[in-house]
Amino acid sequence: MSAKLLLGQTLSFSQSPFDGSIDASVNHLRRGAVLVSDGKIAQVGSADAMIAANPEVLQINYGDSLIMAGFVDSHVHYPQTAMIASWGKRLIDWLNSYTFPEEMQFGDSAYAAEISGRYLDLTRANGTTTMCSFCTIHPESVDAFFTEAQKRGQRVVAGKTCMDRNAPEGLRDTAQSAYDNSKALLAKWHGQDRISYAITPRFSPTSTPEQLESMGALWAENPDCLMQTHLSEQTDEIEWVRSLFPNARDYLDTYEQFGLLGKGGLYGHAIHLEQREKDRLREVDGSLVHCPTSNTFIGSGLFDMAGLISDGHRIGLATDTGGGSSFSMLRTMAAAYEIGQLRGTPLHPAQLLWLATVGSSQSLWMDDKIGNLSAGHEADLVILNLSSTDAISQRAMRANDIWEAIFPTIMMGDDRAIEAVWIGGSEAR
Ligand code: GUN
Ligand code: ZN
Repeated sequence: MSAKLLLGQTLSFSQSPFDGSIDASVNHLRRGAVLVSDGKIAQVGSADAMIAANPEVLQINYGDSLIMAGFVDSHVHYPQTAMIASWGKRLIDWLNSYTFPEEMQFGDSAYAAEISGRYLDLTRANGTTTMCSFCTIHPESVDAFFTEAQKRGQRVVAGKTCMDRNAPEGLRDTAQSAYDNSKALLAKWHGQDRISYAITPRFSPTSTPEQLESMGALWAENPDCLMQTHLSEQTDEIEWVRSLFPNARDYLDTYEQFGLLGKGGLYGHAIHLEQREKDRLREVDGSLVHCPTSNTFIGSGLFDMAGLISDGHRIGLATDTGGGSSFSMLRTMAAAYEIGQLRGTPLHPAQLLWLATVGSSQSLWMDDKIGNLSAGHEADLVILNLSSTDAISQRAMRANDIWEAIFPTIMMGDDRAIEAVWIGGSEAR
């Protein structure tokens, strides 16, 4: 693959903007360049110097647009694509009324392929290059998603969702079949091209202790895999977990008892945590995943970003499509900002962009490969037009610095702000 030189404003991170000053954390070049070669980022630097050093290389000029790492969405349900924005329910009713009937259809390989392709096209149009997805209980739903991702050359994580109780007939497996099917899918897909398998018990209410134990055993046998689930999203859910697991110390303990707490574990939502749960999650370096549009849409609560990040938690940002009301990480950053405001702790635009790229890739333990404009990283990029609508443009025109120029796009931008997306070193269309 021949090298290409992308010209525009560039933005990368040298450290977390939660740890030090914004200026010390961010590298912004007004006239920057990214050299892409063999699917990787070969170099990032000033445009003048890099043009002079690479006179033969084809240039692609994005003008004033901003070149940065593609967005990483660390918790989604691709099978919920077609029922996103379903009205008026809270978590358990929402699952029973809208989600489970839709997920029932994914034993049909053709339907699973259609929705996988639709989901990947919609998210690419919104600048997302990697995601970590729940599938359904059907192995066909996993095969379809990985096949479509592989066609697009994308780095993705996904797994068969396991449920053996409190779900309708047709959407339940067993402890044994969940183990056997997950193991076979893991052997088939994990490490193929840019694909990773995640062991995926949906959440404690829909798994028997026997199933949680079988998932824990599979994770112990495959410790390099991620494990994803849900934790403490709504107070009614937590009460339900308490009644289903009377001997557990708390919600997290229903995972801990069965070998499902550890490094590489991804815990979606994590809103209503007790101190013991926070301490244990911190000790094992588990990943918490903040899903702000979902938390407001389903009415779940306000994630404590400031408190958890200052305590040193590993935190990713996610849409949680279709409990989340968007496919866009721009919209998701805006919602994270609004939740921060409601808690009295607004997030800086640099912190929002960091969460949507580096933070999410850290939550997936992939920050050595994706999530930053950094030499050696895979060339998954998004190019943002910072004046994509009249409303955004008239505000950005008054900007005094790069953050005032970017923030209107974070708050008001949509897929019109996505000028281009690169996946694995090629422009994706
Ligand atoms: N908890 C268990 N399953 C789900 C789901 O599909 N979406 C959300 N938001 N929470 C869940
Ligand atoms: Zn979820």
